[in-house]
Amino acid sequence: MPKQKKLRCLLQTFGCQMNEYDSQVAIGLLKKAGFEIVCENGDSPQKKGQSPFLQAASEDEADIVIMNTCSVREHAEDRVFGRLGMLGKIKRTKPDLMVGLMGCMVEEHREKLFKRFPQLDFMVGTRNISELPSIIEEVSKSRKQVSKIKQDGISIEYSDLVKRHYPFYAWLPIMTGCNKVCTYCIVPITRGTEVSMPAREVYREASRLASDGVKWITLLGQNVNSYNGSSNVIARSPEGTTKQSMSSEIASASLGTLPRNDDKSINFPELLEMLCEIEGLQRISFTTSHPQDATEELFQVIARNPKISRRFHLPLQSGSDKILKRMKRLHTYQEYREKVDLLRRLVPDIAVTTDIIVGFSGETDEDYEQTANALRELHFEGAYIYKYSLRKATPAAKLPDDVPFEVKNKRNQDLLDIQKKITIERSRKLLGTVIPVFVEKRSTKHAKDMIAKTEHDRKVVFEGDDSLVGQFVNVRLRDIYHETLIGTLIQHAS
Ligand code: 5AD
Ligand code: SF4
Repeated sequence: MPKQKKLRCLLQTFGCQMNEYDSQVAIGLLKKAGFEIVCENGDSPQKKGQSPFLQAASEDEADIVIMNTCSVREHAEDRVFGRLGMLGKIKRTKPDLMVGLMGCMVEEHREKLFKRFPQLDFMVGTRNISELPSIIEEVSKSRKQVSKIKQDGISIEYSDLVKRHYPFYAWLPIMTGCNKVCTYCIVPITRGTEVSMPAREVYREASRLASDGVKWITLLGQNVNSYNGSSNVIARSPEGTTKQSMSSEIASASLGTLPRNDDKSINFPELLEMLCEIEGLQRISFTTSHPQDATEELFQVIARNPKISRRFHLPLQSGSDKILKRMKRLHTYQEYREKVDLLRRLVPDIAVTTDIIVGFSGETDEDYEQTANALRELHFEGAYIYKYSLRKATPAAKLPDDVPFEVKNKRNQDLLDIQKKITIERSRKLLGTVIPVFVEKRSTKHAKDMIAKTEHDRKVVFEGDDSLVGQFVNVRLRDIYHETLIGTLIQHAS
């Protein structure tokens, strides 16, 4: 089909980095199958205020519209529902327009969505992305609603077709799903139980990325700390099904410290150490972590490996033990604080960031104050603050959503203000210091400026030339503009 006419496919991504990665895989597969991608999102999940979708969604721009969806908060789902309504209207005048969904909403709502939205042509589960081109072909032939939603297996596809936005930077998913049961969270339902990519496959993919020029990788997973990969490999058959075996290609690849024939379990700290050995890779970050699985062994590995980035994202969610218990977070505030203290003691240059939910069921003024105090006490380098959003399929749906919307809003704003002051205070302390930064690209706003990021994932802008892209350089920090640090180039970092 695409051979006769290059169909234009528009893909929009909602939600987390895992979704962004899946979209990059989908774009690669669709391009290979002969589709033209009219608009695609980049590596950054936080592209606020940018809506490539709106300008490209007109009937003149796309033959196929796919949304890669997120279920974590109601707001993200509502945007997709609104968008589906709009696409339904467009289809009245452009009946050939094909509309599809990928991602967590597909896993959550499944075929029910076909009834509610007759304008929806296809749905692709998180473990079926490789089938996307054939599903589109099936819809175009049959003109029937088609869904492929596998119940088990792993949703990670490693492929050299992945469309990375920066040649020097890549995401690398290592596990999916979650075995925790935080009562507010829909992820265990949409992404299933934990499945880890075998360590040999992760190592091989990281080596491939390094030989392709990638210098910084970010390991992705819902809870990377509980990574538990077999050292053996899963070889994929052409149909995309998997079977346990060791292909000769992989066996002959350089596997670092990993024994070749010994099928043992590799935990996250061990995996990190293995990946640090890969030549050419200069930085390894990871996200996200659960406090219960963030161990001293992991902190020690970070401390002795300068290749591991000095940012640790460790969601706290609440400073109140009563709320943490209602959330089934499996730790108290004191236990969390002790972890952060230990991490900061062992890795003094670490930047700890966190997630907080305000307005969870039963959160009183006193509980909220404990969270505000936690931010003041722990002095995070950054915090994402979310308003609790009841998700129907979660255990917390049985609890009353009893914090009024205005109170959630106020608590959210107050915490943002508290954290902003802390972040500015921390940034001021950096002024005058010389730090290494990784140069990503030239600024589109100011032609003389280069955009870089620090070890701590903070944005830095400085005057420089294109030859610096993909390198670490030293800059002296001289100013702050909102959240951005402004620097002056000193020299190339070694
Ligand atoms: N409502 C609000 N925030 C949520 N998160 C997860 N589920 C919900 C929910 N139902 C937040 C948590 C998590 C982050 C990725 O999203 O803070 O760490
Ligand atoms: Fe959700 Fe908790 Fe698992 Fe994180 S650890 S994905 S918040 S269930």
